[in-house]
Amino acid sequence: MSVAQNLAYSAVQAVHNFGAVATVGGSIAAMLAAPEARRKFAWLALAGWTTQAVSGPALGLVSYYFDHRFPDIAGIAIAALTIKIICVALGFTLVAAYLCPCERYLPSCAYCLERFRRLVWPTSTTLAVTALTAAAFLRWFA
Ligand code: HEM
Repeated sequence: MSVAQNLAYSAVQAVHNFGAVATVGGSIAAMLAAPEARRKFAWLALAGWTTQAVSGPALGLVSYYFDHRFPDIAGIAIAALTIKIICVALGFTLVAAYLCPCERYLPSCAYCLERFRRLVWPTSTTLAVTALTAAAFLRWFA
């Protein structure tokens, strides 16, 4: 592997690692924070999910750019990657809905809205921890 390719992987992987910290840390902090302090951690979690949605595929694109093909993965590695993609899609949507000021994307009844607000952070935390666990399997089965 060339120095340029290693540098590209390292740069994108560094961003990806900080994104992982932001999803897990932001979600746990929002879950534990007082309701009035929750929004700023929500933005951290959203930044994390967004970073992962961009930097994850970017790791694959680095391979494509330098090797002219995507990494040849199968079995458990494919399953781990699929789990990560699902976690990002759900995590991003959930936290974006929490932060979105537009009423029509949120439950209309007050009870459902309250339940949604209560469940967002345990769910986002579970998704982030699941993706982080899947990362270990992707790393060693790829
Ligand atoms: C669209 C979603 C994602 C894609 C496409 C993706 C893709 C990748 C790829 C290709 C690698 C390199 C694997 C290797 O070293 O062979 C990687 C590593 C990693 N990913 Fe993701 N990822 C995604 C989401 C996430 C999420 C949500 C997290 C955590 C919250 C995460 C955490 C990590 C970590 C910690 C590593 C480094 C693993 C290690 O080297 O030990 N990823 N990811």
